[in-house]
Order: sequence, then structure tokens, then C-alpha cells
Amino acid sequence: METKIGVLGTGTMGAGIVQLAAQSGHEVVACDASVEALEKAQIYVREGMDRFARRGAFSEDEAAAHYDRIHWTTNVEDLREADVAIEAIVEKTGPKKEALAALDALLPPEACIFTNTSSIPITELASATNRPEKVCGTHFFTPPPVREAVEIPRGPATSDETVERARELVRSFGKLPVVVDGDVPGFVANRFLTPMLLEACRLLEREAAPKEDIDLIVKKGLGFPIGPFELGDFIGLDVALDVISRIHEATGDPYYEPPEILRDLVRSGRLGHKTGGGFYD
Ligand SMILES: NC(=O)c1ccc[n+]([C@@H]2O[C@H](COP(=O)([O-])OP(=O)(O)OC[C@H]3O[C@@H](n4cnc5c(N)ncnc54)[C@H](O)[C@@H]3O)[C@@H](O)[C@H]2O)c1
Repeated sequence: METKIGVLGTGTMGAGIVQLAAQSGHEVVACDASVEALEKAQIYVREGMDRFARRGAFSEDEAAAHYDRIHWTTNVEDLREADVAIEAIVEKTGPKKEALAALDALLPPEACIFTNTSSIPITELASATNRPEKVCGTHFFTPPPVREAVEIPRGPATSDETVERARELVRSFGKLPVVVDGDVPGFVANRFLTPMLLEACRLLEREAAPKEDIDLIVKKGLGFPIGPFELGDFIGLDVALDVISRIHEATGDPYYEPPEILRDLVRSGRLGHKTGGGFYD
């Protein structure tokens, strides 16, 4: 299966999805509104492909061919001929609905629109388009070239054919698709991930232990591959705050009230790896 895939948004997730799609043999149009984000993504993808080549996943010549399959652009119109678009812009409902409406107006009628949202109900996002049956989630985890499963949140309007196309696409990336209810706040993954970060923040706020020690206990005691603060920095604290806030709003459950420490870091622009510092420098 060779498909032309449009990826809208080449930040932390979009860049990884671009890499994964291109090294799986697809032609990719990678679009971001920001030139700086595109340039960062180009470096990320080139280095990522070089790493895969060094580990023997493919040759250096193949890595170059994979990279050449990507068309980089700031012009969303370049997605016009895509067979499928994957939206990976900021986790905010308004901008995402605008982006999906723009893609709907632009793409061929048979194209599916997939969203990488972590928490926004699929029904709400699909309502911005005239093709809600062709909309569902493809929720990649970070970093997309490495994580093995991809959540596929579907809405009641998503057709079985669209779900099958999402599954096929994810399988073509060598990943495991898992279909879930796309109107459950936080889907499945973030109902596990966000409590871990919430608990970590609350323990830090009540000075139960320093952040390094909390991460250490979770990693070396519980055997998790990464500590909650390290993971938060990796995800992006703005994204984490948006997801927690949305689950809080949707469930009305005070448990999901975003911790002050997280709000403070986001307010001060410490968003994690992408800004050079978050919980850690
Ligand atoms: N960070 C994670 O670990 C993670 C994991 C799974 C899912 N997600 C989801 O993936 C999506 C993207 O998250 P991220 O962490 O990559 O965010 P990010 O902030 O790193 O990147 C977002 C990118 O979108 C671009 N952008 C914003 N509006 C745009 C528009 N209208 N058109 C084109 N480009 C636009 C920005 O310039 C930026 O480069 C979000 O929905 C998020 O919830 C994130």
C-alpha cells in the first residue's frame, strides 16, 4: 500500500508521524504553520532515520530515499491531493475544528481525516466537517517511530470502512491498532497516564519527596521505563495540562483538577524538552 499522507502540524508528534510514514514507504506532505517548527522537524526526522539506519533497520541509501519522500511546506493547500490527512496541531478544540474544516474543504471527497487528539471527543471534531463518517482518531504515542500501539478512537458517526482504513494505515507503519470509544474523555491511554502525572505533582506539592526521588521510585521500584516528571517533560507540559483540563471539564471529577505546579510551569513557558526545560532543566 503506497499512500500519499498529509500531516498537519510537525511538532513533537507530527514530526515523529512524518518520519514513521516516510520510512514505511509512504509519500508524505508535512505541513506546519511555523517555519521554525518545520526546520526542527526536518532535523528530528533526519536524525531519527539515521538512528534507524545505524541500528540496521534500513541502509543509509534507503534512509536518504525515505527522507526524499517527504515534501515540507507551510502551505496547507499542498495537502490537496492527499489520500489521507493526519492532523497533529495543538490540543485546543477551536484550532483543531478550524483545521479539520479547512482539510475537509481541501481534500478529495474520498479522503479520510484522522486526528492525533489525546482527549477531544471525535464527535465534536468530526462535526466541523461535512464527512463525519470519514473522521476518527489515530492517537500515536510518543515517540511515534518507537511506540508499538496506536489508539484508534472512533465516534458513533465514524463508518466501519474508515476504521478499517485507519487500522490498515497503522498496520502499514508496523504498529498495532487498538480501536476505542472516541467520545470517552481521555480515551483509554490518558485515563492511565494523566493520574500518574497528577499523583506525582500532588506528592511534590506536599513535599513527600523531591521530584528526582519520585521518578526514581517509579522507575527503579515499580519498574516503569520512565518517571512521571521525565514523561511530562517529554510529552510537553502544555499538552499535558490541556489533556488534564479537558478530562476535568468533561467528567466534572475534582480528581482531575489541574495541579497548581503544572499550571505555574506552563504559565512561565517551561513546557519540557521542546523549550529546553520543564520539571527538569
Ligand atoms: N506530546 C505528546 O506526547 C502527545 C502524545 C499523543 C498525542 N498528542 C497530541 O498530538 C497533537 C500535537 O501535539 P504535540 O505535542 O505535537 O504539540 P506541539 O505543540 O509540539 O506541536 C504542534 C504543532 O502544530 C503547529 N500548528 C498549530 N496550529 C497549526 C495550524 N493551524 N496549521 C498548521 N500547524 C499548526 C505548531 O506550529 C506546532 O509545530 C495534540 O493533539 C496532542 O494532544 C501529543
